[in-house]
Amino acid sequence: MNVFSPERCEAQAASSSAVVCTPPGAASRQPEWRLLKEAAARFPVNRVQPGGVPLPSSAERAALFDLRTAFARDAGRTARLSRTFVHGDRWLAHVDFSKTHIDDDVLTLLHRLACAQGVEARRQAMFAGERINHTEGRRVMHWLLREPVEAGVAEPLQPLWREMDAVRTAFLDYAERVRDDASITDIVNIGIGGSDLGPRMAIEALAPYGHTGKRFHFVSNVDGDALHDVLARVEPAHTLFIVASKTFTTLETMTNAATAMAWFRAAEDGRHADRLGEHFVGITTRVESAHALGMRQAFPMWDWVGGRYSVWSAVGLSLAVAIGATRFREFLAGAHAMDRHFVEAPAQDSLPMQLGLLDVWRSSFLGHASRCMAPYAQMLQRFPAYLQQLEMESNGKRSSACGELLDYATCPTVWGEPGTNGQHAFFEMLHQGPQVLPVEFIAVCRPQHPWALHHELLLANALAQAQALMLGRDDPDPQRCCPGNRPSTFILLPELTPFTLGTLIALYEHRVFVSGAVWGLNSFDQFGVELGKQLASGLAPRFSSGDVQGLDASTADLLTRMRAAM
Ligand code: F6P
Repeated sequence: MNVFSPERCEAQAASSSAVVCTPPGAASRQPEWRLLKEAAARFPVNRVQPGGVPLPSSAERAALFDLRTAFARDAGRTARLSRTFVHGDRWLAHVDFSKTHIDDDVLTLLHRLACAQGVEARRQAMFAGERINHTEGRRVMHWLLREPVEAGVAEPLQPLWREMDAVRTAFLDYAERVRDDASITDIVNIGIGGSDLGPRMAIEALAPYGHTGKRFHFVSNVDGDALHDVLARVEPAHTLFIVASKTFTTLETMTNAATAMAWFRAAEDGRHADRLGEHFVGITTRVESAHALGMRQAFPMWDWVGGRYSVWSAVGLSLAVAIGATRFREFLAGAHAMDRHFVEAPAQDSLPMQLGLLDVWRSSFLGHASRCMAPYAQMLQRFPAYLQQLEMESNGKRSSACGELLDYATCPTVWGEPGTNGQHAFFEMLHQGPQVLPVEFIAVCRPQHPWALHHELLLANALAQAQALMLGRDDPDPQRCCPGNRPSTFILLPELTPFTLGTLIALYEHRVFVSGAVWGLNSFDQFGVELGKQLASGLAPRFSSGDVQGLDASTADLLTRMRAAM
């Protein structure tokens, strides 16, 4: 079975720019796809076809892959199905996927599929600055934002690096000035999606490194309650508003920014109105639009950075104010270390590669339509929300990059809550529900707080849940029995620092790249979200006019009821 040749795959990546430029198309065309489908018959598969498919008989079930048997038979399983990312003299991340439904043959086939789909060539194309986001004709270069030196990039990209570096230095200098300015006590980030989730998640994750003299607020929702709540707690003279929007046209952000500006102008009988320009800073590809709104300072971003990949750019300004320029650069350095690992490590040793392939296997072959994220780290509370955009906006696609409809499932639903909270809420379903639902644990070895007991209890619970999912519990009463054989992955970080957080985020970014490339889709556009925006802009004026002509009956009725009760 082991006919996968990494050398051949790497050679193909190095020699063929045709592979690079041509989107690969549906993966199900590859011979490996059929072999993986056959292999999936050995594993428990979620049956989700309409009309239902008979569940396997107990005899059939007994013949299927079982984690307990796999571990009993194979003492080397964990060693073979774990990977550690070592950087210099320290390890930064460890991934154990031995407690998941996979074996060596499947892994080999997945690597062959990745090779056939040109994943490595595509990765090289991304790092060479090719326009792999071909539907929008854009390069995909979030990795450039964390490149520390000009010489680290290919010559044609060096002018872009210099431009980026100048902006990076400028916004980090600005962040330092804000940090030093005691008159600014509150930072309000107005932005949504990628212009919110990254900095919000990271500020929380790195709270122990945060500036103690400043409070950070995030307003994303156009629901006025979000802004109202924040404005009630801040004072205009002591607040810096960061308006982050790649396009500077996003309805939620522009509405919130306009209301915040009006509030600022009107506050204290307009006493501070002429200082608005200093209290609002823009982050956008359209700096002229920010200036046109009266913002004196605006930091550019570029169309080669996708919103959900933009925390490394000036979109991370609030984070830079929180942790300071030096630590922000450590955050970039941690991500850069993962970039180098992704580029340099052989496919079999690459963490993003293993995890991305696992995602393909679980979604497309085992019918695992969802993945529960269980960070056993309170600081990573917002990480599942961050991943929802990163993964689902990138790979929640049903057509290939060539435009053909795919005949397989792609991105799973990603959701979750920090452990141990999740245990006391939805873990019942993970242990007892009829569908197999993989869980991804993230645990941090060294805590920031001083209470060893808390940390031991936390880690014991993470380990215990992974064990319980796998081992189950026999009981003649089906209501008390836990079937076990439930898969999980376990990601371990030595500690949560700016550096390791950077590494962790980049690991997920590249994992999404790998699964998207294998699935043959464009992970970097998001046309699906446009339709709702268009419809909303058509509906908004109907609230004042009351005109419901041309609307479907349900929408017309709901709108009429809303108007009547508003
Ligand atoms: O509508 C989706 C989206 O375009 C995301 O991709 C993006 O992160 C978010 O909206 C916000 O966009 P912007 O930064 O342009 O305001």
